[in-house]
Amino acid sequence: MSTIAVSQVCFKKAFPPVLSRFIGRFMPNQIDTVHLTRLGTSDLYVSRVGLGCWPMSGISSLGITDELSIATIHAALDHGVNFFDTAYSYGYNGRSDRVLGQALRTNRDRAVIAHKVGSHWDEKKQRVVDGRPETLFSQAQECLSRLGMDHVDVMYLHTPDPLVPIEESANAIAEICKRGWARYAAVSNVNLEQATRFAAVCPVVAIQPYFNLFQQEAVRELLPFVFPNNISLVCYWVLMKGLLSGRLKRDHVFDPADRRLSYPIFQGEAWQRAQNVLDKLRHLANELDYTVAQLVVAWSLTQPGISVALLGAKRPEQIAESVQAMHIKLDAEVIEQINAFL
Ligand SMILES: NC(=O)c1ccc[n+]([C@@H]2O[C@H](COP(=O)([O-])OP(=O)(O)OC[C@H]3O[C@@H](n4cnc5c(N)ncnc54)[C@H](OP(=O)(O)O)[C@@H]3O)[C@@H](O)[C@H]2O)c1
Repeated sequence: MSTIAVSQVCFKKAFPPVLSRFIGRFMPNQIDTVHLTRLGTSDLYVSRVGLGCWPMSGISSLGITDELSIATIHAALDHGVNFFDTAYSYGYNGRSDRVLGQALRTNRDRAVIAHKVGSHWDEKKQRVVDGRPETLFSQAQECLSRLGMDHVDVMYLHTPDPLVPIEESANAIAEICKRGWARYAAVSNVNLEQATRFAAVCPVVAIQPYFNLFQQEAVRELLPFVFPNNISLVCYWVLMKGLLSGRLKRDHVFDPADRRLSYPIFQGEAWQRAQNVLDKLRHLANELDYTVAQLVVAWSLTQPGISVALLGAKRPEQIAESVQAMHIKLDAEVIEQINAFL
């Protein structure tokens, strides 16, 4: 989980573009284009901001087009992101996979792709968790065909299936790696006990929990497990679905089709309390000349055990803005100030 950094300018000068792209993916310790971190004990070096492809599914995000999504992926690459996070269930029919595959057709060597299996949508568009081995195998194969690739770099179990012993799902993820469909195994949405049981059967390079300023407990629980086992925490909802970008003001009127309204933090008193914290963040970000999103992501990347912040983005300018957080070094007193906002 070593994080390394050298000036981007030095790196660009030192290596021609083709070599730089290769090294950007499998990065030896002494060189770096941007802030990269090693994923567990693997040979993968990934950007500390990863692009989350959920918004590209168009399921809960409004105003998505495939052209915009492809432009967003290319903007991420151009700004030093090499880590992309998708899943079998990101789209009713694999939309995010297809878009990602299309965007990376000529850029595959610049990207580390993480995928997830074990969750899908039924014909009524209800989410189904299914961790049975045969489902995981068929979903993994289908994902590769949607992406137009013969393997991905990391394969997660998306979430434990309460009806399937986690060891069975873990065995299947290990088998997916053995068959060459993925280089490394990982698991998402597990508590400490589930993580321990999964990793006993199938060693993992990463665990993917949620984490943000308002929701830190899942990560806290995992820390005693990930530190001694050298496992990276790749966290989602660092921006809490856009809330922590600070752009949604206290009096924001949500489109009734905006699914964020179903999350408790976007409603009632929780919304007001969040806005109180956001007012303080807005003030501090303004003083430091950052955007709120940059400040929040930079703070998240200072938190113990956090290797990568996964950020969803709907438009190129969103990832171009947030990714700058990888280059921000916050003073200890700023970090303390933010901790005290809660
Ligand atoms: N393992 C799991 O079960 C799991 C669950 C959830 C997510 N994930 C992964 O984590 C990723 C991140 O989660 P997420 O996409 O749900 O939410 P998120 O990253 O917390 O928020 C993304 C949303 O924030 C807004 N946003 C992003 N950058 C912004 C900026 N610079 N300024 C203003 N607004 C900005 C955009 O929405 P608006 O423009 O509409 O405001 C965007 O769609 C996902 O894409 C997915 O890859 C995994």
